[in-house]
Amino acid sequence: MARITAGVGCSHVPAIGVAMDTGKTHEAYWKPVFDGFKKSREWMEKQNPDIIFLVYNDHCTAFDASCIPTFSLGCAAEFKPADEGWGPRPVPIVKNHQKMASHIAQSLILDEFDLTIMNEMEVDHGLTVPLSVMYGDIGPKDEWPALVIPLCVNVVQYPPPTGNRCYNLGKAVRRAIESYDEDLNVVIFGTGGMSHQLQYKRAGLINSEWDTNFLNLMTEDPVAASKISHLEYLRETGSEGIEMVMWHVMRGALNEEVTEVHRHYHVPASNTAVGHIILENNI
Ligand code: DHB
Ligand code: FE
Repeated sequence: MARITAGVGCSHVPAIGVAMDTGKTHEAYWKPVFDGFKKSREWMEKQNPDIIFLVYNDHCTAFDASCIPTFSLGCAAEFKPADEGWGPRPVPIVKNHQKMASHIAQSLILDEFDLTIMNEMEVDHGLTVPLSVMYGDIGPKDEWPALVIPLCVNVVQYPPPTGNRCYNLGKAVRRAIESYDEDLNVVIFGTGGMSHQLQYKRAGLINSEWDTNFLNLMTEDPVAASKISHLEYLRETGSEGIEMVMWHVMRGALNEEVTEVHRHYHVPASNTAVGHIILENNI
């Protein structure tokens, strides 16, 4: 059977992707950001997942105000990096494991998590930046080392789903993956965050103390973390800090007891606190 062996939490700041794409990672501003991912890249090479189940958010790229699905699952054969205004990032097309994605769609919907099924979709920095930081420089002519099943969560248009809903969805994702009859190593990514607000009077807000506590809860008390209210995210972490609800899908798909094998926290990268954690399932 397929099994979820580990979870990765990871910010998706687009400027991190630009720094990689333009060869700036050794500059003084960026070096500490990327130093914190050295161990992650070694870990990825050893872990060598067959599939990454990647929980991420779209930023008005694949979706706009005309269609706002709360949860949508990528079921297409492949997902092209989108043009977000500066041209598509020079990274490989993301390839799916379509058979497993279809199985997950069926399992989740029959498990009462209604999804939108995406048979065509482009992916923005929300998906490609976490892949780039975890794998390092992979050019457009190479292939991503793993197949990717994307789960897109609405955190752009109010109301996003609650942390609790995301946590329970993670449990259902685990049931779906672990009922797939092929011996596959799956790592689940929860992406976005940490504290940041991009607009208006509180633009630039960063709350390191709150972020650190969130990372502690990810390891030690995921149920308490899943109960954090929308109001608390907005008040303490800024309007875009709400992206962190996506981490609960990842956490819900793991055991309650996990081993934290790596953590990295750095402020700021662009306007955002970069947070990253690797949690292994104690099997
Ligand atoms: C930034 C962060 C984001 O999460 C995003 O989607 C866009 C920009 C930033 O910090 O610049
Ligand atoms: Fe974002």
